[in-house]
Amino acid sequence: MTLIAGKPASFWIDSTPTSTFSPFINNLVVDVAIVGAGIAGLTAATLLKRAGKTVAVIESKRVAMGVSGHTTAKVTSLHKLIYADLIQQLGEDKARLYGESNQAAIEQVAQLVKEEQIDCDFSRQSAYTFADSPEQLSQIEAEVEAAIKLGLPASFVKETSLPFPIAGAVKFENQAQFHVRKYLLHLAKTIPGNGSYLFDDTRVETVDEDSPCQVQTTRGVLKAKDVIVTTNLPILDQGLFFAKAYPKRSYIVAASIDPAKAPDGMFIGIGEHYRSLRTTPYNDGVLLLIGGESHKTGTVTQTEERYLRLEDYGRTQFGIDSFEYRWSSQDMVSFDKLPYIGKLTPVNNHIYVATGFSLWGMTKSTLSGMILSDLILGRSNPWADLYDATRATPFISETSIKENLDVGKHWIGDRLKGLDKSSFADVSKGEGKLLTIDGNKVAAYRDEKGSIHAVSAVCPHLGCIVDWNSAEKSWDCPCHGSRFSCDGQILHGPAVKEMERVK
Ligand code: FES
Repeated sequence: MTLIAGKPASFWIDSTPTSTFSPFINNLVVDVAIVGAGIAGLTAATLLKRAGKTVAVIESKRVAMGVSGHTTAKVTSLHKLIYADLIQQLGEDKARLYGESNQAAIEQVAQLVKEEQIDCDFSRQSAYTFADSPEQLSQIEAEVEAAIKLGLPASFVKETSLPFPIAGAVKFENQAQFHVRKYLLHLAKTIPGNGSYLFDDTRVETVDEDSPCQVQTTRGVLKAKDVIVTTNLPILDQGLFFAKAYPKRSYIVAASIDPAKAPDGMFIGIGEHYRSLRTTPYNDGVLLLIGGESHKTGTVTQTEERYLRLEDYGRTQFGIDSFEYRWSSQDMVSFDKLPYIGKLTPVNNHIYVATGFSLWGMTKSTLSGMILSDLILGRSNPWADLYDATRATPFISETSIKENLDVGKHWIGDRLKGLDKSSFADVSKGEGKLLTIDGNKVAAYRDEKGSIHAVSAVCPHLGCIVDWNSAEKSWDCPCHGSRFSCDGQILHGPAVKEMERVK
């Protein structure tokens, strides 16, 4: 297997300090508890604290180390191709609200950067969705027409600063990009004080709606009138969001590039082999991020190939010969293209969620903070109805049926996995395999020194069988996207329990 280039770390995380907030102290009461210190949670916390509420943000690991720390950090309302589809599926009024709300989220980020004077490499940029080939051009033209109809800052262009020709592109002006962790670490610092808190290293296991709500953590119970859960996919299963969205992984490689050759703007292609491109300041130069190669979580084992294809693209299209970083990310894709932002279920009045950002999380998570803070403050919000998390979700589209069938298949088919292997001796160095040992399904990894790390292959969320991810050396659940280290520790929810160790 060819080695993947670059340090296996997110540039955003590698270039900023780790937060050092204390873990939760038992017996605390606040107005609003917020589970998850990513961009949605920290935006909500900031807006609520500014409005006079006391808040407590509870993070299972460290601030902005999850999905927010692994994004491309494009702050844009141009979401590849969406507006022509939205007009067709939901009508012009709802499509307009979608565009308007994502534009408002860009301005919310800009406003916080300005008011708080956040040094986070924030810059205004144009965003482009481009067609590589003439066959894709009609989709671009339809998107331009739809976006202009909705009043968005769109135009059709044939020329860009990319070093290769394109067939055509949608261009949105006055969008933005930033260093997401510089932004979030600053917001995080403003939370503690005057009755508000931020706790690192505290996992929330469940939330019971009561008066007040009881937030059960691994370190005791926090009480709050209202609770916001922003954990990518909610850790609470009652809202059935795991059946209304599916988990998707994507990959990024990053290379230092001659500033004179760096493209100006943020770009994304279309089609199965799309590429996502942007630059960011790096030491005294520029880092080019190349993203893409997304796939449903838990369905690809040889994930090194995904990175290698991105490297190839960098070499061919930009003449890059070495890479500084590589990392991957995961997000929940909503079946009806809209995120879910609002109450957990129709019978919950004090527990709120935000999920289903469909790989465009910078604006949608900011928007979640705006909407959820308004709902809790009793203010009207023009977009709350569109994104209502309890809305009837059509489970009838071709995609949603396929994805739900996939989950169903894993429930049944998973029971048969791994029957062909029965001994740890079958696992080579650096390899992960599913085994059946004494009738139990075991997920076994042999490290480079030859030691076996073995855990039960049954996902502690809802019982599917995990799959090996070779580039990240993780066990990934194909059902709802929980991910675990080779020792069974949680890397990504919705699971709140570790995998069971096997001796
Ligand atoms: Fe739900 Fe694994 S994430 S069963």
